[in-house]
Amino acid sequence: MRIKNKPITRCNGDEKLRPKVKTLFDKGRLWIACLLVYGFFKMMYMIIMSKIWYPRAFCRAAKLMDKVVEDARQRSKLSKWQVMTRNFFNKQNLLSLATDPDQVAIFGRLSVGDLAPPGVLYTLDKEVYNFHQIFQQSPMNIFVLNFAEFITIYIAEAHTTDDWYIPDLNDGAGLCFHAPDTLDDKIRLANNFRNDFCYKLPFYVDSMQNDSMRAYSAKPERIYIVKDGRIAFKGGPGPFSYALDEIDDALRKL
Ligand SMILES: *[C@@H]1O[C@H](CO)[C@@H](O)[C@H](O)[C@H]1NC(C)=O
Repeated sequence: MRIKNKPITRCNGDEKLRPKVKTLFDKGRLWIACLLVYGFFKMMYMIIMSKIWYPRAFCRAAKLMDKVVEDARQRSKLSKWQVMTRNFFNKQNLLSLATDPDQVAIFGRLSVGDLAPPGVLYTLDKEVYNFHQIFQQSPMNIFVLNFAEFITIYIAEAHTTDDWYIPDLNDGAGLCFHAPDTLDDKIRLANNFRNDFCYKLPFYVDSMQNDSMRAYSAKPERIYIVKDGRIAFKGGPGPFSYALDEIDDALRKL
């Protein structure tokens, strides 16, 4: 199957993309107020916990976040404070934090030594594998560097127009997609990312049921090292506690 490198929806000037939050919006203001308060405290909790448990990675990530805000500020000609309030105290961000079940497991259930969950994965040609099968395939499907084999699993399109849409960042990057409804759409979005970033590592797509995302508490991004079918290293929850240096150290210690 050939997949066209064509985005499902792109931002453009004519089309007013109104981000919509599906959950609970119709159920009254009190609900929304409660969720906003909950979302706010959850965000604070996440930030504080990241500081406590992953101090080094958090510092790096905080710097990166600062750069993202600065980029958005320059693009949109807003003040830094406006960018902060629009993006971090934005109703949609907070509602999303409050209602997204996958965000609950921010630190995740898996521990070092656990069996690596065998989630269903698709290639960009829609062939089906489970996680363990991939490593029994020919080396064509995995990237091998010294003794380690690397794969990337695309779990979800971040910041879709139906979910946690951040106007300054999404529009600035020209990335406005609806959440995919079908596996074909999800694969097309994954492929789109791969082409846009010339991403070279072997690339697999999570199922529509989000098997791998859930099992590995991976949203929005996460790194694991698996050895002999078991978790040998678990990275911090991305993007705030996501550090490539940790992987380097962990690989050396295997
Ligand atoms: C899978 O994850 C996406 C993105 O977070 C979400 O929009 C979708 O509803 C999830 N699907 C299921 C079946 O939970």
